[in-house]
Amino acid sequence: MYEIRLAQESDGNALVQFIDEHWRKNHIFVTCKELLDWQHLDRTRGRYNFVIGIERQTQTIHGVLGFIPLSQFDPEIEIGRLCWMAIWKVRDEARGNKLGRYLLSHLEDTIKPDILSTVAASAMSLPIYRARGYQTGRLSHYFILNPEISDYHLIITKDSGQSFVTAGAQDTNKRIEKASETDITNGTADCFLLQKDLPRKSPIYLINRYLRHPIYRYQIYMIRDGMKTTGVIVTRVCSYGMSRAIRIVDFIGPSSALSGLQGQWTSLLKNLNAEYLDFFNAGIDDEDLMSSGFTRRETGDGIVIPNYFEPFSKENVEIDYMINAPAGQTYRTVKGDSDQDRPNLL
Ligand SMILES: CC(C)(COP(=O)(O)OP(=O)(O)OC[C@H]1O[C@@H](n2cnc3c(N)ncnc32)[C@H](O)[C@@H]1OP(=O)(O)O)[C@@H](O)C(=O)NCCC(=O)NCCS
Repeated sequence: MYEIRLAQESDGNALVQFIDEHWRKNHIFVTCKELLDWQHLDRTRGRYNFVIGIERQTQTIHGVLGFIPLSQFDPEIEIGRLCWMAIWKVRDEARGNKLGRYLLSHLEDTIKPDILSTVAASAMSLPIYRARGYQTGRLSHYFILNPEISDYHLIITKDSGQSFVTAGAQDTNKRIEKASETDITNGTADCFLLQKDLPRKSPIYLINRYLRHPIYRYQIYMIRDGMKTTGVIVTRVCSYGMSRAIRIVDFIGPSSALSGLQGQWTSLLKNLNAEYLDFFNAGIDDEDLMSSGFTRRETGDGIVIPNYFEPFSKENVEIDYMINAPAGQTYRTVKGDSDQDRPNLL
C-alpha cells in the first residue's frame, strides 16, 4: 500500500504541504524553509532527514517521521551515532494500519542509529516506545529565582518567591566566563573528552547547533575553576513584555562542575535583569544542581515556571523523553536536544 523511503531534496514541497495540512497549520517549517533546511536537510546526501510513507495509489504522503542525527551539526560524527526523532505523524484516516511502525522501522533499518531518542514524546507514543523495550522518563525542571525581584511577571509563586531562594554552596574559585567560537574550539577540549554520558557532543556540534543558529541567539559560558575550564553551559534569553528568563539548554562537563556556582547565577540574573534561570534535564546529578543553588520544581509546590514563550504561556510543562540506551549506559538529556529549543513563531 505504501512506499516507505527517505525524503529526497525534491520531496521538500510535498513534505511542507503535509506538515501544513496534517501536523500544524502554518507551522514554522511552512513559513520558514530556512529553518526546515537547517534542521533537516542533509546537503551532502541531497535528502531531507525524514522518512516518508507514500500511498502508492495516489502518490501522496500519508505519514512522516522526521529525525535529527547528531551529525547534522558536526559532519565528523557518524550519522548512525545518535538520532533524535522529531515530527512523527500519520494522517488521521491512515492510522492504525502500521504505517507509523513502518516509518520507525525504516529509520532503524536504514540509518541504523546506535541510539534513538526523542525529547517531548507525546502521551500516545510513550506506550509504543515501552512496547519496543525503550526507556522512557520525564525531564526534571530546575530553577533559580532572581532574589532582587519581588514582583514577578513570568512566574507564579504562593508568596514573594523568597521561599524558593536557596543557599547553594559558594566556591570563590569558580566563575562563569562568556565563550566565543574560538574559546570553544581551543579551550574546552577536556570537557568534551571527559563525557561519559550519551550522547557525546563535540565543539563543532555546539558551534553549529547554537552559535550559528539562523534565528536564535545563544550565549555560551565556560565554567572556570581557578585556571581550568571544567564545564560549558549554553543559554538563551527568552522574553515576554519587559520580563526575561535565562534558559540553560545544554551543558558539557561532569555535573560536579556546577556545584558552588550560586553566586555566579545570581549575578547573571541581576546583570541580565531576568526573573529566573531554568534548566530542564535528565541525567545530571541532583546534588550537584542543588549545591549550584537550583531548586527542583515538584508537582504541588505551587510554583509555575513557564516553558513556552512563542506564544508565552504561564504554565508548567512536563517534557517526557525516550531513549533506547542499553541498560547500564548513562545518558544526559537537555532542552537543547532534538528540536525542543526551536523557534515556533517568526
Ligand atoms: C504515533 C503515530 C505516528 C503512530 O502511527 P500509526 O500508523 O497510527 O501506528 P501503527 O498502526 O503503526 O501502530 C504502531 C504501534 O503502536 C501501537 N499503537 C498505535 N496507536 C496506539 C495507541 N493509541 N496507544 C498505544 N499503542 C498504540 C500499535 O499497536 C502498534 O504496535 P506494534 O508495532 O507492536 O504492532 C500516529 O498515531 C500519530 O500520528 N499520532 C499523532 C501524533 C503523535 O502523537 N506523534 C508521536 C510523537 S511526535
